[in-house]
Amino acid sequence: METLLLSDRCAGDISRAGEILRRGGLVAIPTETVYGLAANALDEEAVKGIYRAKGRPSDNPLIVHISHVSQLAPLVREVPEAAKRLAAVFWPGPLTMILPKSDLVPRTTSGGLDTVAVRCPSHPTARAVIDAAGVPLAAPSANLSGRPSPTTFCHVQEDLTGRVDALLDGGDCAVGVESTVLTLAQGTPRILRPGGVTLSQLRSVLGEVEVDPAVVHQLEEGRRAASPGMKYKHYSPAADVVIVDASPEEYVSFVNRKGDGWALCFEEDVPFLQVPTVPYGSRYDSSAQAHRLFDALHCLDQVGAKKAYARMPSKRGVGLAVFNRLIRAAAFQVVNPTGVQVVGLTGPTGAGKSTVGKVLRERGCYVIDCDQVTRSAQVYDSACLEELSGAFGPEVCPCGVLNRAELAKRAFASEEARNRLGEITFPRIIRRVRQLLEEGRAQGFKILVLDAPTLFESGLDSACSRILVVDAPKEERLARILRRDGLTKEAALSRLEAQPSPDFYTSKADWVVENGPGAEVNSAVETLLRDLLEERENTCL
Ligand code: TXA
Ligand code: MG
Repeated sequence: METLLLSDRCAGDISRAGEILRRGGLVAIPTETVYGLAANALDEEAVKGIYRAKGRPSDNPLIVHISHVSQLAPLVREVPEAAKRLAAVFWPGPLTMILPKSDLVPRTTSGGLDTVAVRCPSHPTARAVIDAAGVPLAAPSANLSGRPSPTTFCHVQEDLTGRVDALLDGGDCAVGVESTVLTLAQGTPRILRPGGVTLSQLRSVLGEVEVDPAVVHQLEEGRRAASPGMKYKHYSPAADVVIVDASPEEYVSFVNRKGDGWALCFEEDVPFLQVPTVPYGSRYDSSAQAHRLFDALHCLDQVGAKKAYARMPSKRGVGLAVFNRLIRAAAFQVVNPTGVQVVGLTGPTGAGKSTVGKVLRERGCYVIDCDQVTRSAQVYDSACLEELSGAFGPEVCPCGVLNRAELAKRAFASEEARNRLGEITFPRIIRRVRQLLEEGRAQGFKILVLDAPTLFESGLDSACSRILVVDAPKEERLARILRRDGLTKEAALSRLEAQPSPDFYTSKADWVVENGPGAEVNSAVETLLRDLLEERENTCL
C-alpha cells in the first residue's frame, strides 16, 4: 500500500487527512501523549483496518477520540456527574474515561465490550483532524502491536509505512506516555493504566480512586485483565531489559561490573558508566522520563542492543506511568544487586523527621542520624581539630578540645567562613555516614535509613535507592521550631526562610509523609514499609 506523507505544517494536509478518514481510511496522527492510528470510530470496516495494520488482537478495545466534551453524550449510555467534573478539569488532555457504551459505538471498536473508552486530546492537530473528519476517531497508539509506542514521526514511519493510507507529521509528542485510562463503569473509579494525569490529581477531583493491581504487578496466569491492553506483552524493544532497583552508585557499579549490556540510565549516571548509555530523563524529573522513555526504547532497537540495565524510576506522580511502561518493557524483571534498600529521609526543618525516623527504627530499620554524626567524635578527630585551628584560629580548640560555641561564632560569620567549615567537615561526615551504612549492611539490616536534613545538598542522595520526605504546614513547622529551639519568632522565621521550599524536597520524593497536627505517622510508615517489602518479594536478588 502506498502511504501518503502529510504534515501539519503544510496547508491543506489536515483537511486531506480528514477526507481520508471520512472515506474509511487509516491515518496516523500526532497527539500530546503518543501518535495514534486513527479511523472513523463508528465505521466497523475502517476499525477492522486498524487491528489489521497494527497486528492487534481483536479483543483489545480502542480509545475513541473527540474534539469537544459535547461529543461524549452520543457515545455513552449516560454521562455521570464524575465524568462531567473530570472533563471540566482534565479535558482536553491525557485522560481517557471508560463508560457504558451507546449503540452508536460498534463492538469492533470496543473490542466486544459493553463499555467504551473516550478521550479528548489537547494536541491542536489531533483536534483539527477530528473536526475535519467530522466523526469521532478510534485511535490506538500508532505502533505495531507489542512494540514501544511512537513519540516521534520517525517512530511512526518505521512501524507503519506501507501499512496505512497516510502519516501526518506533527513533530514530537510532549507527554511521551499514553493517557491515563480511568474506568467509571463500575463502583469506585479505578485507574487501569496510569498516564499524564496522576492519581493525586484524580483524587483531588473525585476523592476516592483505586489503582488496578495490574498497573504494577504481573497478572497471574489465567486472571482476566480489567483493561485487555494490560495482558499483552508490551512496549518491548528487542533487547532483554532488566530493571536495577538500587541507589545511583550501586546501579553504576553493578552495570560496570556486568559490562555486557547497555545502560538505560538517567542523565546524571552517564559520566560514571563504562558501558554504552541511552539516558531517559533525569532522576528527579518524572515528566522528562515520560517524555524520553519510548524514544530510548526505540534507540536500544536501533543500536541492536541485546541486553539493557534500566534505572528504577520513582513511582510517584507521572512516575507511576513511567514505571508501568518500563516494567512491561522489562517483562517484570527487577534485580536488587545488594539486597538492601537505602532510604534517604529528609524534609524542611520542623516537619518532624525525627518522629518518622523513630517509627522506622521501631519497625526494625537501621536508622543513621546524620545530625548526630555531624557532632560526633569520629568527625572531630585530632586531624580535623588541627585543620579547624589552622582555619579559624587556635581559640576554637583550646588545649585540643573543641569549643563549639567559638567555632560556630567564627564559622558562621561569613559565607566564606561557612564554606571553609564545610570543606573541612563535610568529607569527614560523609565518610563516617558511609562507614555506618556498611556497618548496617554487615549487621544484616535490609532497610537502611539515612536521616539527613541536607540529603541533597551533601550529595548523599546518590547512596539512596528511595527518598522519603516528611513535610508539615509552615505554621506547624514554625511552632515546632519555637518550642524545640527556644528561638525568637523572627529568628525562627528567618531560619525557615533560609531553607529551600518544601517543594524542593517533595519534588524529589518517592513518598511524602504529611506530619501536620493529628497526622497518622505510624500508619503512613507502615504503608511504605509494606510497599518496600512487597517489592522485595517481586525482585530477583
Ligand atoms: O494516549 C493515548 O491514550 C493514545 C493516544 C493515541 O490517544 N492511545 C492509546 O491507545 O494508547 P491504545 O489502544 O494503545 O491503548 C488503549 C488502552 C488499552 O490498554 C486498552 O485495553 C484500554 O485502553 N481500553 C480501551 N477501551 C477499553 C475498555 N472499554 N475497557 C477497558 N480498557 C479499555
Ligand atoms: Mg498502545
